[in-house]
Amino acid sequence: MGERYALFADFGFHNTGVGWARSHGREPGLAVELAAGTVVQVDQRQLDSFSEPQPSDVGRYEITLDPADRWSYKTPSLRNVALTAPYMHDGSLPTPAAVVDFYDRGGIDNPGRDERIRSLNLSVAEKTALVAFLDSLTGSDVQRLVARARAPWAGGEPAGAASGAQES
Ligand code: HEM
Repeated sequence: MGERYALFADFGFHNTGVGWARSHGREPGLAVELAAGTVVQVDQRQLDSFSEPQPSDVGRYEITLDPADRWSYKTPSLRNVALTAPYMHDGSLPTPAAVVDFYDRGGIDNPGRDERIRSLNLSVAEKTALVAFLDSLTGSDVQRLVARARAPWAGGEPAGAASGAQES
């Protein structure tokens, strides 16, 4: 696979329309997953009624001050992406299927949208295959990585197997 593709990211910044929509009050609200597969869309007016005002966010432009970078965000690694919902920089898309639908629609049209993001008119089979591809990026060592993050002193061993742990 090589270094260039191993992270399944292009290391670039792009305008998909998510940030533009949020800055222009066009966000559809927030998709909240109540249980696996059960998603409710919370209306933006409801969110605004109890949220702090959102600070302005124009993406990479805040660092470069180059107008071409407005509402551009870094492409994240897609490794283990099926385990890291919600998606996009603002967490506005709840599931991999919602992300695939988003790209199928061509993201959100705006003056700076990356020209590679456009309506795809994918078939159901193609969308299903894309979600399966995203699922396939889940590594076989995730449990060990999670165990190591939770208990770094145990070196990624399952609970109870750390040196010094004794059976009673
Ligand atoms: C059908 C094709 C595509 C699929 C299935 C796909 C998949 C994804 C997924 C799953 C995420 C969310 C990652 C996360 O939040 O952890 C993502 C984010 C992103 N993708 Fe794509 N992608 C596609 C096409 C593209 C293209 C063509 C570009 C650039 C021209 C692009 C640029 C980005 C960027 C910049 C983000 C981050 C957006 C943000 O944080 O707001 N993607 N993509």
